[in-house]
Amino acid sequence: MLQRYLLAAVVLINALELVRANLYTDGGKPHRILLDTDVDTDDFFALLYLLKLNRSEFELEAVTINTNAWTDAGHAVNQIYDILYMMDRDDIPVGMGGEGGITEAGDVLPDVGGYLPIVEQGNATAGGCRYRQAIPVGLGGRLDIDSNYGIRKAFLPQGSRRYSPFRQPTSQQVLNEKISAGPITIFIIGAHTNIGIFLMRNPHLKKNIQQIYVMGGGVRSKNPTGCCPNNASSSCQPRQCGNPGNLFTDYTSNPYGEFNIFGDPFAAYQVFHSGIPVTLVPLDATNTIPINENFFKAFEQNQHTYEAQYCFQSLKMARDTWFDDQFYTSYFMWDSFTSGVAVSIMRTLHNQNGENEFAEMEYMNITVVTSNEPYGINDGSNPFFDDRKVPKFNLEKEGVHSGHVQTGLRDPFCIVQNGRGRCKDGYTEEVTSSDAVRVLVATRAKPNPDSNSILDRAYFKSFLDVLNHPHQTGRFNFTMQFPHYKEVFYKPDLGTKRLGKPVVFDMDMSAGDFLALFYLLKVPVEIINLKAIIVSPIGWANAASIDIVYDLLHMMGRDDIPVGLGDVFAMNQSDPLFSAVGDCKYLKVIPHGNGGLLDSDTLYGLARDLPRSPRRYTAENSVKYGAPRDTDHPELRQPLALEIWESIVRTLDPGSKITILTSGPLTSLAKIIQNENNTRSVIQVSGLICYCQVKKLATDSAYDVSNFIAGCLCCRWTYQPW
Ligand SMILES: *[C@@H]1O[C@H](CO)[C@@H](O)[C@H](O)[C@H]1NC(C)=O
Ligand SMILES: *[C@@H]1O[C@H](CO)[C@@H](O)[C@H](O)[C@H]1NC(C)=O
Ligand SMILES: *[C@@H]1O[C@H](CO)[C@@H](O)[C@H](O)[C@H]1NC(C)=O
Ligand SMILES: *[C@@H]1O[C@H](CO)[C@@H](O)[C@H](O)[C@H]1NC(C)=O
Ligand SMILES: *[C@@H]1O[C@H](CO)[C@@H](O)[C@H](O)[C@H]1NC(C)=O
Ligand SMILES: *[C@@H]1O[C@H](CO)[C@@H](O)[C@H](O)[C@H]1NC(C)=O
Ligand SMILES: *[C@@H]1O[C@H](CO)[C@@H](O)[C@H](O)[C@H]1NC(C)=O
Repeated sequence: MLQRYLLAAVVLINALELVRANLYTDGGKPHRILLDTDVDTDDFFALLYLLKLNRSEFELEAVTINTNAWTDAGHAVNQIYDILYMMDRDDIPVGMGGEGGITEAGDVLPDVGGYLPIVEQGNATAGGCRYRQAIPVGLGGRLDIDSNYGIRKAFLPQGSRRYSPFRQPTSQQVLNEKISAGPITIFIIGAHTNIGIFLMRNPHLKKNIQQIYVMGGGVRSKNPTGCCPNNASSSCQPRQCGNPGNLFTDYTSNPYGEFNIFGDPFAAYQVFHSGIPVTLVPLDATNTIPINENFFKAFEQNQHTYEAQYCFQSLKMARDTWFDDQFYTSYFMWDSFTSGVAVSIMRTLHNQNGENEFAEMEYMNITVVTSNEPYGINDGSNPFFDDRKVPKFNLEKEGVHSGHVQTGLRDPFCIVQNGRGRCKDGYTEEVTSSDAVRVLVATRAKPNPDSNSILDRAYFKSFLDVLNHPHQTGRFNFTMQFPHYKEVFYKPDLGTKRLGKPVVFDMDMSAGDFLALFYLLKVPVEIINLKAIIVSPIGWANAASIDIVYDLLHMMGRDDIPVGLGDVFAMNQSDPLFSAVGDCKYLKVIPHGNGGLLDSDTLYGLARDLPRSPRRYTAENSVKYGAPRDTDHPELRQPLALEIWESIVRTLDPGSKITILTSGPLTSLAKIIQNENNTRSVIQVSGLICYCQVKKLATDSAYDVSNFIAGCLCCRWTYQPW
């Protein structure tokens, strides 16, 4: 009898699930998916996996780009356009940026750009970078990701879509259009800013979002990286070993956060607490699917499509430039694994317990930590509460959002003497309080059922199969799209010309700098002999924009002029513990969106019309220059500003002078002057005339002040009577 009841109950549940399923699949139509990504390497693995799925089952409707994490907008959006073009999917809209903001009163304006976490959103796209400080800026960080290590420019074909001012659809527009159109599933594999803002502004559209799949957070995870091996000597100091989070730059203040959630904890809170079912693939699961040597080898031997080649080349460069020899134990399938788990669950129509081929699942009650206890302290760290009668967004005065919000990388509040950091911002913590949300959580990657395979995870096989599938495949790569393209270096024949003043141009890559560069290149070489360019990536453009300089020189037939990359931090702004990250005190006066970094990074969309130089930024490097190992083509390495300077000084005739024209921050100049050996050698050769074009000295601009300080350093040096 009991059995019969049980059976009846099971039948009833199944019937209910079928009704639900039918609602969800919209009468046999494919699942509509929207992907929100920050375009890191593993992100486009996830994107390509989705693009390869049978379109009568899964239809990727749109991509929105999160520009508040590992990439900068102008670079990320063009990379996505090129990938979609390769895959013959110019029909997929790409949303990015936007200019509106959140007013002081807490009104979310219509078209908010997701450049800043919600806690720092004001009425403009300029702002602080309290969370982003945890992300490396140069090598191994945003420079390498913005440029895809230099690979995308060599590999991806180029279509007609590109970032273009005022024409670029914004994230909020694309989200609005696609979510209004009917039931949809959202994948979030970067910070949650875009979706968080969307949900705050459009609660009436929540009903159309069937499910949100998130890669991010760590619940019960214990980070396996940075542990000391069993046989280690006693001098081995474990770093972040066993932490729930993975902020490898930041664990001394926050061992709990994971990059995607930490990028905008308040936005993630909005997502998790939206009432929409959330499935989470946290570090708990991704830590169990490291890219091991066997998978890497299998991938190397399985590159039968352009997309597989593209992913493998990117992965290989990530490995070859990895900062230590622990790549195979510290690089995981994060986002790509999440797209596999998600579609496998969706195949069974978002089944209740999330059974799927690739991960074990479990329900947990969690929340996202957005501020640290004690709550309601108003200590100056929390813009939602501090100096306000009514908290922003009407948040509860003593509630979970009212505590101390981590202000930066080495926030003293978060640092415990002789211990691990105590801040939990961005922690997807398991809680029993009323604030808990019931979330389906992936706990581990499933093993490959074929135990004879060298691929020890079920998803490894699926990933390689899908990426190499001959259907819906990439049409061409760059060299196949343009078979007549040749990598030619153009150098002028200066013959017996008497060359003019040697000049080094120090620029920060805004549009005005490019006009100045054109001018210098047009002046006869008998008057100005442009010997080198050094670029400063801390002004109006990000470091990867150095490619525009290369392309412009190529167009002008001057591939002979060396280009050196300056420091990615202003003087004394890099972190003393982890120099790849640092402060961004001065940068916060520069807008991220229109008229700011976005437009300079793309030269207002025009950079794509320049011819493609054989020179480009590349992550290639060698031991000789301090890299952990040589890459395949270490000779291609991007030279640094100081190295270019030194090589120019070496070529000077005794007694000759060199002129530096500078039109950006004076960091490189200050570095040159500080470098004692250099100075001495220049003094021996000659002297240095320094035209310090310090920009408009507005008293309210920290950025100009930094220019001014470096400028004084430079001018003081110049006018000393040696
Ligand atoms: C895609 O799915 C449809 C419907 O199930 C099927 O007819 C078609 O053969 C599939 N295509 C591929 C390439 O597997
Ligand atoms: C923010 O900008 C919008 C659009 O420019 C403007 O309408 C609004 O008044 C501004 N709000 C504040 C508080 O500055
Ligand atoms: C593009 O594809 C062709 C043919 O597969 C290959 O020979 C070439 O090396 C590829 N280009 C790059 C940059 O990988
Ligand atoms: C520890 O063992 C590994 C292999 O098990 C070996 O490669 C490594 O050199 C050993 N380290 C020390 C410090 O003995
Ligand atoms: C989550 O909360 C629900 C209801 O409050 C409770 O029944 C369940 O046991 C909790 N689950 C876990 C894993 O704590
Ligand atoms: C940078 O720091 C060094 C020592 O840490 C100091 O001597 C120097 O004056 C600082 N420079 C600036 C521009 O603050
Ligand atoms: C300057 O040169 C000397 C001798 O060549 C060298 O030992 C020293 O490290 C150099 N200092 C700097 C700052 O490069």
